[in-house]
Amino acid sequence: MTDYATTDVLVVGSGIAGCAAALAAAREGADVLVATKAERPADASTDWAQGGIATTRDSPESLKRDVLAAGDGEADPDTVDVLVEDAADAVEDVLVDTLDVSFDGGDGEGFDYAQEAAHSEARILHVDAATGHHILRPFLRLLDDHENVRILEDAAALDLITDEGLVTGALLDRDPETGERAGTGAPVFAGSTVLATGGIGDLYRRSTNPAGSTGDGVAMAALAGADVEDVEYVQFHPTAYDDEDPFLVSEAVRGEGAVLRNADGERFMPEYHEDAELAPRDVVARAVAAERDATGEVRLDVSPLDFAGEFPGLAETCEDRGVDWEAGIPVAPCEHFLCGGVAVDTEGRASLDRLFAVGECARTGVHGANRLASTSLLEGLVWGLRAGETAASDGREAEPSEPPELRDRDPDLPSGFADEKFRRLRRVMDEYVGLHRSGSDLERAQGVLRRLKGEVDAYVRTRTSRDLYQLRNAAVVGLLVARAASENPESAGCHHRTDEAAVEEAPDAGH
Ligand code: SIN
Repeated sequence: MTDYATTDVLVVGSGIAGCAAALAAAREGADVLVATKAERPADASTDWAQGGIATTRDSPESLKRDVLAAGDGEADPDTVDVLVEDAADAVEDVLVDTLDVSFDGGDGEGFDYAQEAAHSEARILHVDAATGHHILRPFLRLLDDHENVRILEDAAALDLITDEGLVTGALLDRDPETGERAGTGAPVFAGSTVLATGGIGDLYRRSTNPAGSTGDGVAMAALAGADVEDVEYVQFHPTAYDDEDPFLVSEAVRGEGAVLRNADGERFMPEYHEDAELAPRDVVARAVAAERDATGEVRLDVSPLDFAGEFPGLAETCEDRGVDWEAGIPVAPCEHFLCGGVAVDTEGRASLDRLFAVGECARTGVHGANRLASTSLLEGLVWGLRAGETAASDGREAEPSEPPELRDRDPDLPSGFADEKFRRLRRVMDEYVGLHRSGSDLERAQGVLRRLKGEVDAYVRTRTSRDLYQLRNAAVVGLLVARAASENPESAGCHHRTDEAAVEEAPDAGH
């Protein structure tokens, strides 16, 4: 067998969920290796998270009701119970007591809880509109100083290693022992492997995720045989800056009173939903798209609030990008969050033994068909802690097995290969697997994606470049999303079938 490294717990990814898993496992005394593609904190979606972290305040039941309502009948009430029951302790223990995050209002009379769409009360803890940044940086510093944790940056997991249905570790493209690039993959064997690889923003042309969000954890788990669920529920955020290079304009801005206007200057949301701008995200996203189509443009009118005073970071971003926010910020929907993913239980365990998944790459059942604002950091924190603790307390030791053989003998990829294929993939996802879906479009998407995956697989057999694996992962997840969307004829939350009536009426549709 080739050289290999071992660890008690291998965490793949370094956002809030991965950090929480690493912390919880280390607290149990486990040796933890965090392998992350990230080279800087800003490479993780957590660092980009604006709005904040939902809390239960005095009523876990009320947060539960809002989460279930946003999930449009598809969320699992039992797992939402876990979220709301753990929320207060997790926030207090990790964010307040351990990391000392200075949430707005925290040094005064009481926290300055923000209001966001589809929340029945103001309950969001935040730091300006840059909450993730203020959580992740101290979290990484804490782990950097922890004697049981080692963070290996710029290290992608290429594949999971399995042995008779057990996940025994992962192949990295950087050797943890030497720190050098590993052309043919460096095996790391672990008692447990925790995937925390984030979202799928790179599958779409416009996304609020950082580059490199290629669905790696979902793809690797699926290729290893793990169950993946609910991946048709891809959430589009309604208010991203309307540009090829979008930035998120937090829902908190609408929570403070900003309104949406079409190109005729009309405020349109009251016609779409009784909660107007604070309607569920999928409703607002489709309304914004419809008004853009009908009138040419939608702007977020921030004149009802003191925008620069309340959201200084966003005002600065607008100024840096040459956006005159006083004239209203041009906005359009944009891929934001994958509600489904690797199916896990309340401890983050996947369907394959010794494999866990947490954060955006996991499907806990909390989000159902549509995620409630500011619950992603909370879910990542709660499930990260649960999975890390369970992984470590199971006390399993690394059991080296024969890793798959990767080949890296052929020349580099043809220049532009990955870029060209990614462009094709994104065109298909945008056009056929976006805000609106139909059976025929989803069939078309699967055809193109299958061909694309075939072309990529041919290269994967002889090369191990990270670009190629990311492309493979994106193609695998794109296919999973398109297939799940095609197999689900019913609109719910962010999965909107334009042909729902036709599907329901079709004699052979199974209804
Ligand atoms: C936002 O700030 O609007 C995004 C928060 C979230 O996605 O939960």
